[in-house]
Amino acid sequence: MAEECSLYRAIKEDPIASKELEVVFQNNWGITADVDSTCLVCGGDPYEKLAQIIPKNRTIYDFGAAYGFQSFWFRNHKKYIGISPGTERPFRTKNSEWYDMTAQEFLSNYSIVEDSFVICNYVPDDEAEALIRLKCPHLFVNYVMHGDISSMFKKEEE
Ligand SMILES: C[S@@+](CC[C@H](N)C(=O)[O-])C[C@H]1O[C@@H](n2cnc3c(N)ncnc32)[C@H](O)[C@@H]1O
Repeated sequence: MAEECSLYRAIKEDPIASKELEVVFQNNWGITADVDSTCLVCGGDPYEKLAQIIPKNRTIYDFGAAYGFQSFWFRNHKKYIGISPGTERPFRTKNSEWYDMTAQEFLSNYSIVEDSFVICNYVPDDEAEALIRLKCPHLFVNYVMHGDISSMFKKEEE
């Protein structure tokens, strides 16, 4: 049997977060097709490492946050802001805020605050990535494959 991931174990050890995890699983029909106890996020959980190195006084923006289980790693940061379209009921921590929209919609309506750190992990949208790289000073962007975003930067320059 596959081993439980560290995020699942950490959430299960916390009584409040553990209940929240159950609510999120119950409210997202079909969620178990995407995530389970062995993996609650994509790509080896860079979020856990990022939470260790990003200073606690930063506001975290997580573009493409999906169900948001990873917000648990950032529960002691200043604020965690999840931005993702179409999640029925995301995982919430005391310090989290949610925006049910794309990165493009968010960045055309809101500014990124100072003292922030932006994460965009496994989001399959080159345009979103280009915009994030343009507008966010401190960031981590990660994807297994990479599209050609240079043409979008040219568009901005014209
Ligand atoms: C493969 S999941 C990755 C989830 C999470 N970042 C992780 O690493 O576990 C991709 C997520 O990006 C979201 N997404 C896709 N296009 C997006 C966009 N333009 N802006 C924001 N989120 C987007 C999807 O709805 C989905 O929740």
